[in-house]
Amino acid sequence: MTDNHGRKIEYLRLSLTERCRQRCIYCSEGGDGCSNADEMSAADFIYIAKICSQLGFKKIRLTGGEPLLRHDICGIVSGISKLDAYEDIALTTNAAMLSQKAKDLRAAGLMRCNISLDSLNPETYKIITGCDLQPSLEGIRAAKRLFSPLKINTVLIKGVNDGEIADFIKLAEQHAVDVRFIELMPMGGKGERVKNSDIIAAFPHLVPCRRDLSEPAVYYKGEGFKGRVGFISPITDGFCGGCNRIRITSGGVLRPCLGSNLEFSLRKAIDERDDELLARKITEAIRSKPLKNSFGHGFTPNRKMNEIGG
Ligand code: GTP
Ligand code: 5AD
Ligand code: SF4
Repeated sequence: MTDNHGRKIEYLRLSLTERCRQRCIYCSEGGDGCSNADEMSAADFIYIAKICSQLGFKKIRLTGGEPLLRHDICGIVSGISKLDAYEDIALTTNAAMLSQKAKDLRAAGLMRCNISLDSLNPETYKIITGCDLQPSLEGIRAAKRLFSPLKINTVLIKGVNDGEIADFIKLAEQHAVDVRFIELMPMGGKGERVKNSDIIAAFPHLVPCRRDLSEPAVYYKGEGFKGRVGFISPITDGFCGGCNRIRITSGGVLRPCLGSNLEFSLRKAIDERDDELLARKITEAIRSKPLKNSFGHGFTPNRKMNEIGG
């Protein structure tokens, strides 16, 4: 369906859990891996996906927290896949548990996988996430064989991992992966942002590719590169004009925009399996979608990134 600013909204981001074993310094305190009483069931998520498909949604992404902490993750993917309504079913993960689950996820119908990887150096990775790098590297290896294009999300933090920019670019040169530098968003965590425009200026051998306005990333390539280097710049780039997405938290709250605290609770409609009420609530939320985020205007989020799912 179309929002009040003429944007076609067809991309649904479902945060399956707030839980995460990592403690990324810019994101949240994560969680302790115990169960979250407010988390919706697999059947609830599949029900939301069904109603959204009837409203014209074509693309779905499962996020978190860490979505692979859900023991029923393959059931959720396969339930959504069986709706036969989505052109794209994707996942965003830290990859720490991906090597064990990649094959089953693929068999369940997962089409794409984006991986958060903020450092190639074990010590720095530990500083940022509190966890070991090795399991995530193994996850990336397993995913690379099964999902294409594989995208790596890298959030740069001044003085922490910004010395690795050239190494990440080399990754895109040597492997068929898209490495995307994401400007740190003010979501209540710590760390100083590195401006993507400074990286683009420092690597003049990278030339821009054709832009897809429905994607936040702008891609660049160097000669002979197997993959691409992407830049997601929520603070400095006006990509909201092409926004096509909404987010739903694991507790059933819809956020029309990442950079706005406007929210709509869908929980009653979901619990009661009231198709008409749920469709009406989602429609109302889409109609209220802000034209752009408020990041540049002293925005203070009322939820952490692990609740919203990025
Ligand atoms: P693709 O389908 O592969 O394009 O994935 P994606 O970029 O939509 O999803 P992913 O979960 O990998 O997000 C990458 C980064 O972009 C994360 O830091 C998100 O928070 C950020 N991001 C994704 N969508 C939006 C958006 O609509 N607004 C803002 N401000 N940031 C976004
Ligand atoms: N700013 C930018 N990106 C963030 N992510 C999490 N928190 C932030 C933030 N404050 C990224 C993660 C993940 C994606 C879903 O969002 O690194 O790749
Ligand atoms: Fe869409 Fe809000 Fe993200 Fe802009 S900041 S692209 S309007 S979700």
